[in-house]
Amino acid sequence: MKALVIANWKLYPPTRREALRLARAIAAGTRGTRVAVAIAPPFPYLEAIRTRAPNLTLCAQDSFWEPAGAYTGEVSASMLRDLGVRYCLVGHSERRRLFGEDDATVNRKVRGLLRAGITPVIAIGEGARESREVVPPMIADQLARAIAGIPKPSLRRIVIAYEPVWAISTTPRATPDTPDNATRRAIYIRKLLTKHLGARTANAVRIIYGGSVNAKNAAAFLAADIRGMEGLLVGGASRSAEAFVAIVRAVAALHRGVSRSRSQRGATAATRRMPWAAAG
Ligand code: PGA
Repeated sequence: MKALVIANWKLYPPTRREALRLARAIAAGTRGTRVAVAIAPPFPYLEAIRTRAPNLTLCAQDSFWEPAGAYTGEVSASMLRDLGVRYCLVGHSERRRLFGEDDATVNRKVRGLLRAGITPVIAIGEGARESREVVPPMIADQLARAIAGIPKPSLRRIVIAYEPVWAISTTPRATPDTPDNATRRAIYIRKLLTKHLGARTANAVRIIYGGSVNAKNAAAFLAADIRGMEGLLVGGASRSAEAFVAIVRAVAALHRGVSRSRSQRGATAATRRMPWAAAG
């Protein structure tokens, strides 16, 4: 499985011209890296990037669960699919905090995306109060509710983005998580997935890390010897082509030569050594 690195541009840049310039620079800088790179621009730039930087994989930042209807202001997953969008963020902490998105909404959006053939990138993560918990209840709750009642086979395609809210650069006094802790969280999340979906489906799910990722710390978040985080969701640093390309290249250098089976064998052994990773 290739590492997946997603650029979350949030509400930037201000013009289509700048968006295209950034997209093209990222496309040129990441070509041939053997890392799956996706760009999540604001909606109005999706079409321009699709046609003028066609090598990039597109990710939307949000979507609505119904395919059509009287829902002023919404954009459906099927419309995004028609635009060639492959991934879509769901439940980002900014949407939960600023736009009242809750676990029930996240669940509906996940269903809508899967129906439309788009891979949901489900963001989960604890706030500062739970940051020291070995197994934060918020992670377990958000994950369980996001996938509740959805047929298992379709969940093979989801991506889980673990983003501790206290580490996201826009949170006041944000500090990046430590690579060790991120790896523990990845193992814990996979345990939770296994509990809900069974090992076979859980093993197909990609878990990625987000929160103040930059070129210096990017590689450390992806454990090469055990199955931990398998990609990154990058916010602030993805608005500079230079910084984002450096992140992708750091990940590419790390993953060269590491086979999936080796990481899986390591993960099993690591889980045995780490009883705290039990999903409970
Ligand atoms: P950050 O954002 O990299 O700026 O911390 C991550 C995100 O919000 O997805």
